[in-house]
Amino acid sequence: MWSCLLLFGIFLPYTAQGLESFDPWSSDNKICQPSMKTCSFELHSDSAMTMFYKQLYRVVATEDGILQKYDEPDDKFEPEQIITADGYPKLVYVFNQTLPGPVLHVYQDQKISVRIFNDFSTESLSVHFHGIRQVGTPGSDGVGRVTQLSILPGSSFLHEFTAFDEGTYWYHSHVKSQTSMGLVGAFIVHPKTKPQQTYKEFTVVLQDWQHFYTGEQHQMLVQSGQFYPNDLESLTSSGTIDYYQAVDNSRAAEALVTSILVNGRGQYLDSRNNENSTNSPLERLIVQESDSQYRIRLINGGSTFSLVFSIDEHQLQVIASDGVPFAQPVIADHLIIGLGERYDVLVNITTKSNQSSCKLFV
Ligand SMILES: *[C@@H]1O[C@H](CO)[C@@H](O)[C@H](O)[C@H]1NC(C)=O
Ligand SMILES: *[C@@H]1O[C@H](CO)[C@@H](O)[C@H](O)[C@H]1NC(C)=O
Ligand SMILES: *[C@@H]1O[C@H](CO)[C@@H](O)[C@H](O)[C@H]1NC(C)=O
Ligand SMILES: *[C@@H]1O[C@H](CO)[C@@H](O)[C@H](O)[C@H]1NC(C)=O
Repeated sequence: MWSCLLLFGIFLPYTAQGLESFDPWSSDNKICQPSMKTCSFELHSDSAMTMFYKQLYRVVATEDGILQKYDEPDDKFEPEQIITADGYPKLVYVFNQTLPGPVLHVYQDQKISVRIFNDFSTESLSVHFHGIRQVGTPGSDGVGRVTQLSILPGSSFLHEFTAFDEGTYWYHSHVKSQTSMGLVGAFIVHPKTKPQQTYKEFTVVLQDWQHFYTGEQHQMLVQSGQFYPNDLESLTSSGTIDYYQAVDNSRAAEALVTSILVNGRGQYLDSRNNENSTNSPLERLIVQESDSQYRIRLINGGSTFSLVFSIDEHQLQVIASDGVPFAQPVIADHLIIGLGERYDVLVNITTKSNQSSCKLFV
């Protein structure tokens, strides 16, 4: 059993730094507009180091979460300049040098083309658009060695499909454990025409995270038969297979998880030795008091655990699950989000003070 309580994201008044809300019906959408028949994107996959500036300078976080050059504390960096993850230096695999990759916003019924460039020198990959119905376009489903050959280093692959269904989806590598190294991003399909009621929104990708190269763990789990512990009733009851139990009683392979990331940011909390904990910056969602209601698109892009999501002193009005809108919204205090699952929630920001916090725990 493993559990953790992590404070993340802080609602802040305007002017502060962090993630600004997105309005799909404004010029916020730089690449794709509702009037376009086809929207085209490029994604570059490559490796990177967390807590390094342009792969050159080691960066550390102060107690206040300020990022600065390791040996020259006067050299400061904005969180956007650094892939921090949970503050531990680590090799990651990323799209467009960001963790998670860019959010792709499109509109229903548009033709979508996404060219994936493999800029790795050694890894091959393929990219699956999770939840997207590939009607008539099975070759764009992105399942390496099933629907396509994996994309070799130095080459690229063009996905072409139609965004038939509106909702919250995501894309991720579909080769071995590359997803848990960071190759994830959100894919959002907005309605074709502007609905009567619109909301400014945030996309929040949740991930469980570990400090080591996950390919090694993946190999060990597959070899020991632990990779799909839910299917191993007889083996588990005989006590020969170990597993973790997640918040919803689903079983997770006995994989090491060191922290939870919210939009690629988190902190490592080491209860045994606080010296080893990190102070890396957390994700911040910037809200304006005049816009009290926001849509938050939640995606569990992790690889081991179901996660519980809640926001202190705020109820969640759940309006869609896995892209599918509910006929009637459901009010919830917290949500359990399984691997790959998505929930869309409306939140009324009720806080009178400047800060309120979101709690998220496994
Ligand atoms: C990814 O990066 C490439 C190269 O910098 C850029 O051309 C492309 O627009 C980026 N993709 C997205 C979705 O931002
Ligand atoms: C803390 O970090 C030190 C140095 O990296 C390491 O030797 C030690 O084992 C770590 N302690 C724990 C409890 O992880
Ligand atoms: C948020 O406010 C709207 C309108 O004021 C209301 O209909 C809705 O139920 C509220 N949602 C929650 C979760 O309280
Ligand atoms: C919010 O913070 C600002 C400055 O940090 C302060 O001037 C203001 O009074 C605060 N507002 C509330 C409601 O606490």
